[in-house]
Amino acid sequence: MTTTSTSTAAPHRLQFPAGFRWGTATASYQIEGSETADGRSPSIWDTFSRVPGAVVGGDTGAVACDHYRRMPQDVALMADLGVGWYRFSVAWPRVRPDAGAPSAAGLGFYDRLVDELLGHGISPWLTLYHWDLPQVLEDAGGWTVRDTADRFVDYAVTVHEALGDRVPVWTTLNEPWCSAFLGYTAGVHAPGRQEGAAGLRAAHHLMLAHGAAATELRARGAESVGITLNLTVADPADPASDADVDAARRVDSQHNRLFLDPVLRGSYPSDLLADTEHLGWTEVVRDGDLEVISAPIDVLGVNYYHGDAVSGRPDPADTRPSPFVEARLSMPTRGLPRTAMDWEVQPEGLTRLLMRLHDDYPGVPLVVTENGAAYDDTVGADGSVDDPERLAYLDQHLRAVHAAIEGGADVRGYFAWSFLDNFEWAEGYAKRFGLVHVDYDTQVRTPKSSARWYAGVCRTGHLPD
Ligand code: NOJ
Repeated sequence: MTTTSTSTAAPHRLQFPAGFRWGTATASYQIEGSETADGRSPSIWDTFSRVPGAVVGGDTGAVACDHYRRMPQDVALMADLGVGWYRFSVAWPRVRPDAGAPSAAGLGFYDRLVDELLGHGISPWLTLYHWDLPQVLEDAGGWTVRDTADRFVDYAVTVHEALGDRVPVWTTLNEPWCSAFLGYTAGVHAPGRQEGAAGLRAAHHLMLAHGAAATELRARGAESVGITLNLTVADPADPASDADVDAARRVDSQHNRLFLDPVLRGSYPSDLLADTEHLGWTEVVRDGDLEVISAPIDVLGVNYYHGDAVSGRPDPADTRPSPFVEARLSMPTRGLPRTAMDWEVQPEGLTRLLMRLHDDYPGVPLVVTENGAAYDDTVGADGSVDDPERLAYLDQHLRAVHAAIEGGADVRGYFAWSFLDNFEWAEGYAKRFGLVHVDYDTQVRTPKSSARWYAGVCRTGHLPD
């Protein structure tokens, strides 16, 4: 893909290709609140967030940004910011409460949302699963059992029947690595299970759910179908250390290739199979599953926040449960600047990731479906929120995306995470990722300076000099 530039462009102006999709993103449990409205049933996050100590500050999504009740005003604000696309997720427990019959009231919310977006000239990008599994399915085994994948297909069809006439892009799953390994291996996300190989079983069933739903959606005429993966760039902390090189390989296999290979190549990585053979998880893999999982997709969503330096030596001071199965490793910091999440800011990692996808998994268009940063934003005396660090983060990462496009990667869009400050999972409300500040006492929304800047980028399609 070539970049376009105008004759009046300044020499360093970075112009994105015509038709590049500019957007912002959220997820249902992180913003909606209204947890029992219109018959919504509990999700695993309702349950998990009420476990003492599971979420910082004991926060839950019970109210969140009250988006369920403020949706029209939120869409109007989004339109003011000039984004062309909005990536949101549908709450399974609203649409099929207790994983049972479809709920007209629950579907009605998303029906109104889609119409509101289209009425404001914003294209809807729908994610079916952003982590809010109906609790009743977890009680029956959750993602560690095959039946959950079948139920997901029923749910996907229900949503498509209601919204398929107006939603052009369908993402099956958001970040299945988190659902599987943070949820079932490390236990730091819902459902909070720490069962080692359960993460691998969950990963298989999640991908099965993805492939089967992708096929159904396509058969029903969906214009574009894909999956969003959170991918990392794993570098050995010391490239001269064999242990570090091997630890980085393991992280790459469990974080990246475990999903990329089945979805895009129809096979599990052989090194991952060898590393984890003794865990017996492949007993859940049946003949034909990999054909289902590798159903063609139209777009690969890439969520990128930071890369990882990986050491083969565990850090005895780090007592947090590891999401990596059988991992004897640690992730030392490299002295790079860090965000409020303590994540290192490494924009060149995004260029490398996009180029690697282009080289190793050619032929699938890429969209950066999430990128952004948490900082400790404060409201100034005049009511404004100035967030130069987030603005710089977005600018640097967009330059990294542009560099990948120049290098030949087929990157078709970028979504800033997130539209609003929201419920940051195990971190609660303390971590703010929004372009728009939310005062959780009053629900007042204040666009930050980064939002104004991003609006200019969306409007012009280029980065300011
Ligand atoms: C990825 C997840 O999809 C999103 O829900 C989360 O808030 C961001 N990362 C930031 O951690």
